[in-house]
Amino acid sequence: MSFRTLPKVELHTHLEGCAPPEFIKGLAAEKKIDISKIFTADGGYAFRDFDHFLKVYEAACTTLQTPEDFRRLTLAVLEETAFHGVVYMETFVSPDFCGGGDLAAWKDYLAAMEDAAAEGQEKLGITLKGIVTGIRHFGPDACKPAARCAAETFGDFIVGYGMAGGEMVGRPGDYRYSFDMAREAGMPLTCHAGEWGGAAMVAETLRDLRVGRIGHGIGAITDPALIEEIAEKEIVLEVCPGSNVVLKAVKGWDNHPIAKLRDAGVKITVSTDDPPFFHTTMTDEYEMLHRTFGWDEDDFKALNKTAIAAAFCDDDTKTRIA
Ligand code: ADE
Ligand code: ZN
Repeated sequence: MSFRTLPKVELHTHLEGCAPPEFIKGLAAEKKIDISKIFTADGGYAFRDFDHFLKVYEAACTTLQTPEDFRRLTLAVLEETAFHGVVYMETFVSPDFCGGGDLAAWKDYLAAMEDAAAEGQEKLGITLKGIVTGIRHFGPDACKPAARCAAETFGDFIVGYGMAGGEMVGRPGDYRYSFDMAREAGMPLTCHAGEWGGAAMVAETLRDLRVGRIGHGIGAITDPALIEEIAEKEIVLEVCPGSNVVLKAVKGWDNHPIAKLRDAGVKITVSTDDPPFFHTTMTDEYEMLHRTFGWDEDDFKALNKTAIAAAFCDDDTKTRIA
């Protein structure tokens, strides 16, 4: 059985990271930007490790220069995602890549993305919401304008604030100001942690940034007390197994802690992160979870139920997608 048509909810994607290589190549050609070195001979994205992945990602982003580029990107992403049965998707969007943190520019980019989201809803039946994200390796000061953009545009499309990027740059507490600003605006919060930084980074993120969801969080697996705390506080993990395997955050699918975390009572969701970078789709993620851990339709329905409950959108949207 193919899992493609099973309705899916995905909470952890990066909009630029969902850009198909062909799409980025097209923009590069239009704008006469030479980024040929970020592609493999067979047309995929070429990177050696996580740090190099971030560089390649940013190089790809140099081709995304206007609100219209983001409108086209958003539509292309929604077409591909809807094909894999996703009915609701949250995606990280970064003021740093959309006008460099300037609020007026950000609003123009946002209008373009919202326009595409409305078209996706109407033509493809997929609901898209945005989570504004600070980029950790750009530093705490660069995250402040991102948080301001988030707080000023929190509403129907922008539903939360988060942080992605190089997890080993600084400590979570260094980014407290941005998270406090978003929290004071009433925004739900998530933060990448425990992709690289282990259990201590997850614990510190929960303590200092007081987020309700953690991006990845797999590093928690080494700390039974932390696992218990995460389960008890109903912190939701946005787990991206295919991403973890390709970036070598885990040794392979067999070693992925997702099943152990779930069986320990942690609220687990599954997402693709940056699907074309990792040669994955939501169908592939389900297929691999089925093959590796024997998860089946009932397990996937349970994952989706958890994801809907943890989604940052309003209750009317949740009722519609349930
Ligand atoms: N940005 C895009 N993908 C990411 C990942 N897997 N970890 C951190 N930052 C990211
Ligand atoms: Zn991510």
